[in-house]
Amino acid sequence: MMSLEGKVAIVTGAARGTGAAVAERFCQLGARVILGDVRDEMGQATADRLGEAASYCRCDVTHSGQWADLVAAARDEHGRIDVLVNNAAVLHQGPIENTSEEQFRKLLEVNTLGPFLGIRAVVPTMREQGSGSIVNVGSIDSLAAMNGLTAYCASKFGLRGLSKAAALEIGRDGIRVNSVCPAGGNPEMYEPWMGKVMGFLEETIAYGENRGIPGSVPVDSIVDAIVFLASDASLHCTGIDLPVDGGATAGCFIPGFNTL
Ligand SMILES: NC(=O)c1ccc[n+]([C@@H]2O[C@H](COP(=O)([O-])OP(=O)(O)OC[C@H]3O[C@@H](n4cnc5c(N)ncnc54)[C@H](O)[C@@H]3O)[C@@H](O)[C@H]2O)c1
Repeated sequence: MMSLEGKVAIVTGAARGTGAAVAERFCQLGARVILGDVRDEMGQATADRLGEAASYCRCDVTHSGQWADLVAAARDEHGRIDVLVNNAAVLHQGPIENTSEEQFRKLLEVNTLGPFLGIRAVVPTMREQGSGSIVNVGSIDSLAAMNGLTAYCASKFGLRGLSKAAALEIGRDGIRVNSVCPAGGNPEMYEPWMGKVMGFLEETIAYGENRGIPGSVPVDSIVDAIVFLASDASLHCTGIDLPVDGGATAGCFIPGFNTL
């Protein structure tokens, strides 16, 4: 089993969903975790539930000042930072004409600028230590685009570029930067659009079924991939995109062709 024994990790967007599951698994594997989010009550409750190895510190990832507070909290409480998981993100679904400038900016700010500010905030500490692992949570939409998701795809493709450039820039300081690209997560993220999506139920089901491993990806599998990249099991992986998507981005599955 992979271990995170003795490591200190920051996980953003950890109040609920994938981030909360990552924080929980990290604690189980021996890490001490600082959870960041903007949902303060939920974030505090999640940290309390995880016990002594976890603490909550508000961090709106779009604010460099709040990143400074989060890094200071990690250093004060634990004296080091081994892992940063840039997991916080927001979604907007809608075609170009139904996407306002404000919505587009918001997605770029939270999903792309946020991780940039996070990397910039932890690098001095990791450089001092000569080691660190940064895991950016992208999406299947970081690897293959989809209509109706222009803002989200732009933000997640951008995050992938950021990961690779950073990996090259700080690799010699012992800091690794990788992306996990899942086809799934917390349904609450896309809940506001579910009513409309249900109008295209057949197409939506086909999207999830026409892949090597059909169906949506459980959060546990996403967490497994994040643990791998956070841990020393991936010491020579940097600048990679790890799809956790049942083969959705591997290519095209055509039902019936297996029987030709
Ligand atoms: N839900 C999915 O189907 C899905 C699919 C692929 C990838 N992802 C990615 O997985 C990651 C986790 O998402 P999730 O599925 O757990 O959804 P989620 O909505 O439950 O989690 C996102 C978290 O980010 C927090 N957040 C939002 N704005 C923030 C900000 N400015 N600063 C700090 N925190 C902020 C939210 O409060 C929330 O706790 C995201 O990067 C998301 O893009 C999700």
